Amino acid sequence: MASASPRPRNVLLGLAGLAALAGVAAACGSDLDDAAPASPGRTVYLQQCASCHGSDRDGVGVNPALAVDRMQELGDAEIRRIVVEGQGAMTGFDLEAPELDALVAYLLAG
Ligand code: HEC
Repeated sequence: MASASPRPRNVLLGLAGLAALAGVAAACGSDLDDAAPASPGRTVYLQQCASCHGSDRDGVGVNPALAVDRMQELGDAEIRRIVVEGQGAMTGFDLEAPELDALVAYLLAG
């Protein structure tokens, strides 16, 4: 049975290697902004909005910043209207209700 003994060890080493790879992959997933944890609303934001408004919501070029205090000034209903209908150079977005809810919550709370 001596030939069978290395096997379990190899399997364990293989699993350890996979776990290490998974750790690297998870670390790479948040490369847009390492500081902020991904919430559902932030995930939608990064997919739909960050290309124009920036991953940190600081704005890019002519696209305005979406700072929390400005979002609170606009308010829930106005943000929804702008996102759904669009405004100026920004086209409207056809989001599912839960996505829109999460997105607006993220914009209002940061
Ligand atoms: C193609 C680029 C682009 C994308 C993508 C985009 N926006 Fe905009 N957004 C703009 C521009 C340009 C304006 C300014 C529009 C104007 O008033 O003329 C704007 C304005 C806004 C405003 C109003 C800001 C203010 O201070 O009045 C909000 C809120 C907003 N965007 C939210 C979003 C959200 C949420 C998303 C993702 C669902 C998004 N935008 C995606 C370009 C974009």
